[in-house]
Amino acid sequence: MLVSVAWPYANGPRHIGHVAGFGVPSDVFARYQRMIGANVLMVSGTDEHGTPLLVQADKEGVSVKELADRYNRQIVEDLAGLGLSYDLFTRTTTRNHYAVVQELFKGLYENGYMIKQTTMGAISPSTGRTLPDRYIEGTCPICGAPDARGDQCDTCGNQLDPADLINPVSKINGETPEFIETEHFLLDLPALAEALGAWLEGRTDWRPNVLKFSLNLLEDLRPRAMSRDIDWGIPIPVEGWENKPTKKLYVWFDAVVGYLSASIEWAKRSGDPEAWRQWWTNPEAKSYYFMGKDNITFHSQIWPAELLGYQGKGAKGGSVHALGELNLPTEVVSSEFLTMSGSKFSSSKGVVIYVKDFLKEFGPDPLRYFIAVAGPETNDTDFTWEEFVRRVNNELANGWGNLVNRAVSMAYKNFGAVPAPAALEPADEAILAQADKAMAEVGEALAHSHFKQGITAVMHVVGEANAYIAEMEPWKLAKDDSQRERLATVLWTALQVISDCNVMLTPYLPHTAQKVHETLGREGVWAATPEIREVVDDEPLELVGVGLPELGQTYPIITGDYANQQATWGRVEVVPGTELAKPKPLIAKLDPELGETGPEWAPVSK
Ligand code: MF3
Ligand code: ZN
Repeated sequence: MLVSVAWPYANGPRHIGHVAGFGVPSDVFARYQRMIGANVLMVSGTDEHGTPLLVQADKEGVSVKELADRYNRQIVEDLAGLGLSYDLFTRTTTRNHYAVVQELFKGLYENGYMIKQTTMGAISPSTGRTLPDRYIEGTCPICGAPDARGDQCDTCGNQLDPADLINPVSKINGETPEFIETEHFLLDLPALAEALGAWLEGRTDWRPNVLKFSLNLLEDLRPRAMSRDIDWGIPIPVEGWENKPTKKLYVWFDAVVGYLSASIEWAKRSGDPEAWRQWWTNPEAKSYYFMGKDNITFHSQIWPAELLGYQGKGAKGGSVHALGELNLPTEVVSSEFLTMSGSKFSSSKGVVIYVKDFLKEFGPDPLRYFIAVAGPETNDTDFTWEEFVRRVNNELANGWGNLVNRAVSMAYKNFGAVPAPAALEPADEAILAQADKAMAEVGEALAHSHFKQGITAVMHVVGEANAYIAEMEPWKLAKDDSQRERLATVLWTALQVISDCNVMLTPYLPHTAQKVHETLGREGVWAATPEIREVVDDEPLELVGVGLPELGQTYPIITGDYANQQATWGRVEVVPGTELAKPKPLIAKLDPELGETGPEWAPVSK
């Protein structure tokens, strides 16, 4: 199973809005899939071309290459710190990526799905530089929304051309753009419309918002430019075009190819260069794509269209090219936005909570928990410090932390080890049965990316287990020697339920799960964490054009040894006699005042 995660732009550190949309959900999904035995390949990387980087480099007064290097590294640290278990997190400025992107383009071009056309391009009258679509705003010609962008209207979801906008203005400096004639390669979406429609028709199990949006896009398919007047990007592999310094492939053309190029890079690094095929050219292989809602178009339309055209499956026919018949997405899973007091997280507006600050102060699992239980899974959701503190304290610390602590402390104090149970009473059977039933329910939820439903069901069992202990009053049993067997049974039962809950919480809270594993007296790696490794770009590949990544650069990747972790989905028996130690607190409680003030680095504005 391929788990494809949206590629963050390397134009700044990640804020919690970013990781709520693509990061945590995809990791919970991938970790669950590994636990049920799926052969998971989880890939992503930083998206390093396009105007978002150019604009930021200008702002910071550095070269775009320097900017990309800096934020690639920062983002790698942010995501690894959150425990996101990528098999490979790479970047789009590798020689391998350039080669795979050029191969895709050539296949599409040779099959006739890239058409050369003279279009109207926007330039800034004051600088003479081309203005990217995304940086032009105006009124949508289709729905009349006042804040449509040159590439897309977020209100009605239609794709636009900057020249279509009514009253266009540059977002960079407010001036009115000029339009000049310029030649580009356009992806012939109308020629692929039928094939796209046929594919989408079979996708009945997608989240309804994604499916509806994607089907809607089919209504108005026009050819879309896949090249840009820009000097930063992948050269166009067509004779006479490859050496033009200011014509490059559109950033979205190349970014989505990243899923494939990263799989290929992973295979090469694993020592079996063909290994990527099991996720791409085996028709049985499944692929799940995770992203925020503003990325749907590119994953449910542009990327599938690129794949269909590359293998000659459109109205113009064509042949299957060197990489073979590549699988289209099984599912596009998209999240809504995490907002802060109503406004979308945005570095430019100063509404921002950086992942790195968050991790430094609270560690990864509280944020993972918050995103899973209160994140923007199906609706835009507001982040408030108040709710964060409340959930961490009441649910994680008082609920889960306390349950583990009480049960293990008492077992340790009274037996020094996991006690051996005597005959179970109905109350014991009942709580064990609840945990068992939840295992199936939560698994079902996770398989369908219903993360909120899954964690809510686990936390319900945690609550019931706390109630079980309160009712059994093991502290009273401990004072009465004649009740020693009963005490052993109650504590054994509690430990088994804790073990079950820990299995179910593992995809959500892998770091905490590892601690609980050790607290229960078990050894070895239960839930693996990703690692950062420095690698060399030593691909002596044949690339076409000017402005190519140099041979021999080093860069950081995220990878990990997930195959050897112990975590599996199902009951792990707690074995009487297993030695226990005095447990350390599992989850740090937060100062309630934090809920009112926020931390110093992201204060609540009054
Ligand atoms: N960089 C894009 C964004 O942040 C996402 C790219 S997803 C990709 O919106 F897969 F296409 F790379
Ligand atoms: Zn519109």
